[in-house]
Amino acid sequence: MTHLLAGLPDDYLRDMAAYFSEQHVPYPAPVRADVSAATLEAGRTLAKEGDAARGLPACAACHGAALSGMLPAIPGLLGLPRDYIGAQIGGWKNGLRRAAAPDCMADISHKLTPTDIGALAAWLSSQPVVEPYVPDAANSVRLPAECGSQAQR
Ligand code: HEC
Repeated sequence: MTHLLAGLPDDYLRDMAAYFSEQHVPYPAPVRADVSAATLEAGRTLAKEGDAARGLPACAACHGAALSGMLPAIPGLLGLPRDYIGAQIGGWKNGLRRAAAPDCMADISHKLTPTDIGALAAWLSSQPVVEPYVPDAANSVRLPAECGSQAQR
């Protein structure tokens, strides 16, 4: 993928992103992660409430109350495979995945322990996608931080 994308101009990449964001293919039924109820509850709590003591905002604060994302640039978190979610957060933690500064997910990933990431990936991937699954309107909540790829547009 790196080789394929390296020479493509940003505007062309944005056009491709816009095209795919307009495709609404049905989501498969969720696969309930084979973890304890306590792990699922830990994931739900972090996703919906965060952990103020550790300076962790709820995922829902940026990704929308229903975790369906927020326009223009915050993706939804449901309907994603457990491994994919874990890999993305791991990618931010070790610098493989980056967004324009301030890179909110990089900051958040550094505050998440491996146990947190496992619980979040398990809970998120176990949730059904309830239709209509559409992102919240742009700026519908005040974000805890101005995230880079938001500010870019
Ligand atoms: C301060 C705002 C903010 C908070 C809080 C936040 N995120 Fe994000 N998240 C973003 C932004 C912005 C992106 C898009 C980054 C990009 O442009 O690549 C993102 C992207 C992601 C992605 C990539 C999705 C994909 O389809 O590749 C995952 C996974 C993710 N966030 C998980 C989480 C989890 C889990 C939490 C809670 C622990 C969380 N986020 C909290 C702003 C936030």
